[in-house]
Amino acid sequence: MTDKTANSMWGGRFAGGPDAIMEAINASIGFDKRMAAQDIEGSRAHAAMLAATGILSDKDGEAIREGLLTVLSEIETGKFPFSAALEDIHMNVEARLKEIVGEAAGRLHTARSRNDQVATDFKLWVRDQMDAVDGALEALLRALLQQAEAGADWVMPGFTHLQVAQPVTWGHHMMAYVEMFGRDRSRFADARARMNESPLGAAALAGTSFPIDRHMTAKALGFDRPAANSLDAVADRDFALEFLSAATITGMHLSRLAEELVIWSSAQFRFVALSDRFSTGSSIMPQKRNPDAAELIRAKIGRIMGAMVGLFTVMKGLPLAYSKDMQEDKEQVFDAADNLMLALAAMEGMVRDMTANRAALAAAAGSGFSTATDLADWLVRALGLPFREAHHVTGSLVAMAEEKDCDLPDLTLEDMQSVHSAITASVFDVLGVENSVNSRTSYGGTAPDQVRLQIARWKEDLG
Ligand code: ARG
Repeated sequence: MTDKTANSMWGGRFAGGPDAIMEAINASIGFDKRMAAQDIEGSRAHAAMLAATGILSDKDGEAIREGLLTVLSEIETGKFPFSAALEDIHMNVEARLKEIVGEAAGRLHTARSRNDQVATDFKLWVRDQMDAVDGALEALLRALLQQAEAGADWVMPGFTHLQVAQPVTWGHHMMAYVEMFGRDRSRFADARARMNESPLGAAALAGTSFPIDRHMTAKALGFDRPAANSLDAVADRDFALEFLSAATITGMHLSRLAEELVIWSSAQFRFVALSDRFSTGSSIMPQKRNPDAAELIRAKIGRIMGAMVGLFTVMKGLPLAYSKDMQEDKEQVFDAADNLMLALAAMEGMVRDMTANRAALAAAAGSGFSTATDLADWLVRALGLPFREAHHVTGSLVAMAEEKDCDLPDLTLEDMQSVHSAITASVFDVLGVENSVNSRTSYGGTAPDQVRLQIARWKEDLG
């Protein structure tokens, strides 16, 4: 199909238009239209700068800035005629601007290129997403804090290898996730601070001979400064990769919590009941309450990490500066961002709504000889045994309890003394789970006082 007319934006040296397949592989408008608002914001800042530096007349600058607002409202109201022949959002907007304001529109692209334009638009879009993710993480932190506060001293089993290890508190367990999602927030904040440099004015790759003011456009767009190397400015997608990397870590954290909710809501555990709002039924088994949202959150890491690996693979080995390969950056980031936001919202809702089953947690807390370490510690403290020997004596007592099919506190003093004659009745003080958690007062430990300290610190932090 070479009979089409040449492209109105760059077709000067072309006799005919592109093949339909060329157009299909080349066009990005199907997805980059999501950056329309950022594209128009960037263009308005560019036009204002061109006028302020005298590169453009004030009249043309004003006409362009006004016309761009009209384009924006057409897009927002769904009236904009997107065209694949015009490839991408940048040329779609400019072509429509020409229809609205006439010849002046042709001057907008002075001293810039789509290479710095797309980098600018995409940065603005990713920056907005970072802010949105931050808000969603904050909401999730608040939901977790609420759970932690309600059950700061509720005992439950702590696990290693998913085997009962030592009793911990519900509040402590919730606060572990607060730490994780808190780190996620700071990771996004770090990435945001690092990426906040404006590519605009780098032009195609070498800068421009026009007397532009890159500081002015950087400031207008909320960037801290212009990017200092024009080649890097158009070739850089670190900000997208950092977003995806941080999203992957958050997705991994969400997946771990989701997995715990799946396990905890099962009939075997009954540690939590998920609300009706965040459960689904089975079409054949009337008794079922399925944790579908948790399962889907658990799975989202698959596509988020996939997007990260995908974009790293696109970027590796690309020579400087811009290559069209980089157009493949957006769909990965869009998909990861959408799914991360959905997963965060679903997790927040689930956590906020769920009911921890205090009785089931407590019943499980003492199972599996969970206070065996307390017993060993007592042997060290009260009898002065070396820890290794205490470990051995405790092991024998656990074996005895197992034999008798009872828990450690159910052994008699005589049973105990048959293993080590110096044991006294005060050993029973440390075998209860409440005692066990109350004793773990080291900084960051599971004792309710420690947990409440951390809750207070986080609440103050969140304000
Ligand atoms: N649609 C392109 C992208 O998303 C815009 C930049 C095109 N630049 C170029 N030199 N063809 O990357």
